[in-house]
Amino acid sequence: MKITASPIWQTLQQHRQQHADVHMRTQFEQDPQRFERMHETLPGLLFDYSKNRASEETLHLLCQLAETAGLAEEAAAMRRGDKINISEGRAVLHTALRLPADAAPVRVDGENVLPKIHHELDRALAFAESLINGSHSGATGKRITDFVHIGIGGSDIGPQLAVQALRPYHKNVRVHFVSNADDADIAPVLAGLCAETTVFCVASKSFGTPETLLNAHAARSWFREQGLHEADIARHFVAISSDVAAARNFGIAADNVFAMFDWVGGRYSVWSAIGLPVMVAVGESKFRHFLAGAHAMDNHFFNTPYRHNIPVLLALLGIWYNNFHQAPGQAVVPYSHNLRRLPGYLQQLDMESSGKNRTLHGQTVGCDTGTIVFGEEGVNCQHAFFQLLHQGTRLIPSDFIVPMRTPYRVGRQHRFVVANAFAQTEAFMRGKTLAEARAELAGLPEAEREALAPQKTFPGNQPSNTILLDELNPFNLGMLMAMYEHKIFVQGVVWGINPFDQWGVEYGKVLAKTIEPELNRSDISAHDSSTCGLIAYYRRCNAT
Ligand code: F6P
Repeated sequence: MKITASPIWQTLQQHRQQHADVHMRTQFEQDPQRFERMHETLPGLLFDYSKNRASEETLHLLCQLAETAGLAEEAAAMRRGDKINISEGRAVLHTALRLPADAAPVRVDGENVLPKIHHELDRALAFAESLINGSHSGATGKRITDFVHIGIGGSDIGPQLAVQALRPYHKNVRVHFVSNADDADIAPVLAGLCAETTVFCVASKSFGTPETLLNAHAARSWFREQGLHEADIARHFVAISSDVAAARNFGIAADNVFAMFDWVGGRYSVWSAIGLPVMVAVGESKFRHFLAGAHAMDNHFFNTPYRHNIPVLLALLGIWYNNFHQAPGQAVVPYSHNLRRLPGYLQQLDMESSGKNRTLHGQTVGCDTGTIVFGEEGVNCQHAFFQLLHQGTRLIPSDFIVPMRTPYRVGRQHRFVVANAFAQTEAFMRGKTLAEARAELAGLPEAEREALAPQKTFPGNQPSNTILLDELNPFNLGMLMAMYEHKIFVQGVVWGINPFDQWGVEYGKVLAKTIEPELNRSDISAHDSSTCGLIAYYRRCNAT
């Protein structure tokens, strides 16, 4: 049975109708204990969900929805390594990547995968440390100063987020990222490098992604043009892939290939060898803290009743707005410059996972899935899209992520940023009534006041979650990223979709293959007139 046909879905629809007019401001006024009842804590993290259009009854019904969808069974199946990614016939075991080596076995096709997870992790960490301590030098004996990570999608965004987020913990090797096939990405990176002191890392689970291979070939050509030899590639190129043979065919020495596993999806893979740039940036012990934070969130997720389970609550509130309030999107707002990549990371994690119109078994879903994730670092967002959230016509929930301490301590910057985050969530919730706006304009002539007051009212009742991190350290970052992974999993279970495949994006990988050769040919194959016109214009612009 589709979840939309279940009695609990109908009950939630009725509940939504009955409580459509309740304003959060009233709920806070009527219940001084609202925050006490509607926040959860873990060591290093506080999750406040009190500023939501939800009562205790709403949460109770939403938890019933999760039960009806079979969340407990699905979570257990994921955790023990069942092949829940059925369209690809794969287990989904990113949680196993952060298990301690001595944890109970996790089996795929009868084999305990923990020994090989830790073997690859230890190899990657040892390599990272050898760059940091200088024991792995370049072919001419010089110390490695720069590490260039070439990858895209899940082989880029998670590591990039973590490297940026953990900037105060960086060691002595500069880490760069190249993802886009646009040469404007790779060109300035190469321009600032010395080949003798650079290591390139080609990161591709499939080792078949055209953008990554294009950039990898460009890096290798550049390396040779700098006067280094083919044999020197062994000390300057490494790869991370589940297709070890393909990486070796590219010319990368066997010892320099770090393995990924096909039971970890690209966007869930930062915990594997794909995290190598993070390891190089912050070193072994901090990367292990990052894994430990994610593992702590796994323990919370697998063992906490839904009513107090942070990823479950996040997911159910997301469904509440998405499916019962028709919210057109979800804002993600890190009040932290170092977390500025978080909205982009969640765009991929959420939209690539949840953008599905078919159930696991191929039927149409019957309700909206996924959401349009967008965002920007605070406070910059306040000078951009926040106007639409304050006074627009749409309901758009947001997540505020705010570190409580700063390692930088420049002036009163950090306190200012925190105050702005708190003020914005309060304003979203309370709004400003017409009477309050009039009172503020009391000094103006009546006609002017009456003209202006409606412009200065705010409807409020705009929901937000606030996630406070005691500080932005590796452990707390691990918790934060794992929290969102589990949120997306829970939503997928409720909708009955497979959050772990991405056939639409795979299709994109083949689309350009026909057109690229046509950009250099006059005989253009059958396309629509628009595409033919665009190809012809490109040819005119590039005619010599
Ligand atoms: O963008 C589509 C996608 O398949 C992502 O899921 C994946 O993370 C990315 O391409 C990169 O894939 P690969 O690691 O195989 O190069």
